Amino acid sequence: MKNFTPELLSLKDAGLYRRLVQSQAAGRFVERGGEIFVNLASNDYLGLSSNTALQREFLERILSENGGRFLMGSTSSRLLGGNNGAFCQLEDFLARAYSAHSPEQKKCLAFNSGYHANSGILSALATSKDLILCDRLIHASLVDCLRLSSAKWMRFRHNDMAHLRQILKKNRGEYESVYIVTESVFSMDGDIADIAEIVKIKREFDAALYVDEAHAVGVFGKYGLGVCQELGVLGEVDFLMGTLGKAIASEGAFLICSENVREMLVNKCRTLIFTTAISPIAAMWSKFAFEKAMGMDSERSHLRRISGVLRNRLSSLKTLGSTQIVPVVLGENSAATSVSERLLKQKIWAGAVRYPTVPKGEARLRLSLNADMPRELVEDVADKILECAQ
Ligand SMILES: Cc1ncc(COP(=O)(O)O)c(C=O)c1O
Repeated sequence: MKNFTPELLSLKDAGLYRRLVQSQAAGRFVERGGEIFVNLASNDYLGLSSNTALQREFLERILSENGGRFLMGSTSSRLLGGNNGAFCQLEDFLARAYSAHSPEQKKCLAFNSGYHANSGILSALATSKDLILCDRLIHASLVDCLRLSSAKWMRFRHNDMAHLRQILKKNRGEYESVYIVTESVFSMDGDIADIAEIVKIKREFDAALYVDEAHAVGVFGKYGLGVCQELGVLGEVDFLMGTLGKAIASEGAFLICSENVREMLVNKCRTLIFTTAISPIAAMWSKFAFEKAMGMDSERSHLRRISGVLRNRLSSLKTLGSTQIVPVVLGENSAATSVSERLLKQKIWAGAVRYPTVPKGEARLRLSLNADMPRELVEDVADKILECAQ
């Protein structure tokens, strides 16, 4: 057996070493080793994970509705007897929610996680005669999809529509199908894709469109259905992937698509077929929490407000994007790590995101906000960041 110590040491030398630190997230706070920190590293954008009243209401409801039976352990793949009614109810609910804002009826397929969905969907559908064209900053789970796929793939510069057009002009004729892939809200840059322009391009070049709305579900659009709903283009999005582990504070993911695509994935998608489904209680909570999140307009407005406050207050530093994710670019990996460590001493948990997750020289703090944070707390956090980044 190979000894991995030299490789681990070189990761340490390069400032790229990762560790698992035990912690307990609790809304706008996180507890580690008995100490409480302000949590700027969670994706719990609506503060649902710490809403104990809601959690109590959910538990009381499921105990009274089905006596607490069939909640834990789906025991097998959904294709082999693990397809508890909770998954079907979640899918029906989401299909109805999205169809209500789309010119055509949509279908929904639930997955165990966004990672399962992103890595499995296009790798199941695209063939060696097809081209997958993706934004350079797509999430690692989509990059792994490219690795698994037999399709040819290329990347366009981040949010660069001229570059996307240029690649299509040159290459479209050589492929049967082309899939354009983007996130709507980018997880590491906190900016929003030019979905309206991408829709024009997909029409112009007869391509299909895949949008990962992991960081937009719950936060953007009417009822928190995401950026594509907000722009009124749901009818143009062939694959809308949303996750349930972030603003919805549950686990799992879902795809909104046509009936034909859904049927094909049930037959071909390895990350759906060859995995045990998550526990039914998670799907039940997803449906319950999603329904509640749809009514959280005031939380969405507050989140937008405090994101603006944080960006304004940090204007002397380099921040990116325009959403509830506020990246502060600090340069080399060591600079981001050292500011993150100084902030820990100030009781602020703000993870450093380093190369190779982000481009070299653009290591950053990725600050993500939570609707549960009062404005004063955000102002105080901004002042401490300014102090630590000096
Ligand atoms: C943009 C994006 N897509 C997909 C995922 C994967 O989702 P999940 O955490 O449900 O596996 C993430 C999670 O970090 C993400 O940020």
